[in-house]
Amino acid sequence: MVSDLSPIDTAKFVAAKRALDYVESGMRLGLGTGSTAAWMVRILGEMVRNEGLKVTGVPTSDRTAALATEVGIPIATLAEVKWLDLTIDGADEFDHNLNLIKGGGGALLQEKIVATASDQMVVITDVSKEVDTLGKFPLPIEVVTFGWETTKALMEEALMNVDVMGRTGTLRMNGSDPFLTDEGHYILDFHLHHIAEPRKLALILNQIPGVVENGLFIDICDTVVIGYGDGNVEVRDINAGTIEHERIDVIERDNLFADISE
Ligand code: 5RP
Repeated sequence: MVSDLSPIDTAKFVAAKRALDYVESGMRLGLGTGSTAAWMVRILGEMVRNEGLKVTGVPTSDRTAALATEVGIPIATLAEVKWLDLTIDGADEFDHNLNLIKGGGGALLQEKIVATASDQMVVITDVSKEVDTLGKFPLPIEVVTFGWETTKALMEEALMNVDVMGRTGTLRMNGSDPFLTDEGHYILDFHLHHIAEPRKLALILNQIPGVVENGLFIDICDTVVIGYGDGNVEVRDINAGTIEHERIDVIERDNLFADISE
């Protein structure tokens, strides 16, 4: 049966499916977080269950760990595997250099550690995430809860010396309480609109006491797989300098399309 997924879910599904072409048996894989990464985990689970693929997954959040376990992917901690062959994850924005904003789902800290500990990072996304200049998506910054107001004020002051088009930070909420990351930290979302020098900004932010990590991923992503609502994908490899186009079949199979929880 051919799927009746919405165009946005089709885009996410085909990007996830194409990215799994990079997976080989025996690999240690970083498993990203978010709705696009959830498709990847589900398809990978099917490959493990039905095709005998042998992989070890290192999840980037508690919810990805739960989903990976549910679909039958053996998981391990980063401490156990130490280094990864490949990480596949989503993104909130990417630019022409494949620099990213991540952390919309609040998992940026583990995502950055896992991606940095990987030989290769493949980002899966739909075309709406592409920008000329990063910053349209509010930049998530993970901070310790102690003195977070002071950390926020220091950040706003530091932003005076950076070429951005806004400086307002807001504490991310979960209902009436602050959102807590898996590590028990807060997230400040900074509405910068236009980040002219993302590399410089990333360095400045991480020098501020109280900042745990920022959502700018600079020179970490190697490949982006962009899915489209009509089932086409575009694969851009920043190292090889190649751009490829392909069409991916979307065929419904048992369980895969049921109840994506992200
Ligand atoms: C989570 C992330 C996600 O990768 C990002 O938010 C994209 O999510 P989605 O695929 O749901 O759009 O960085 O921290």
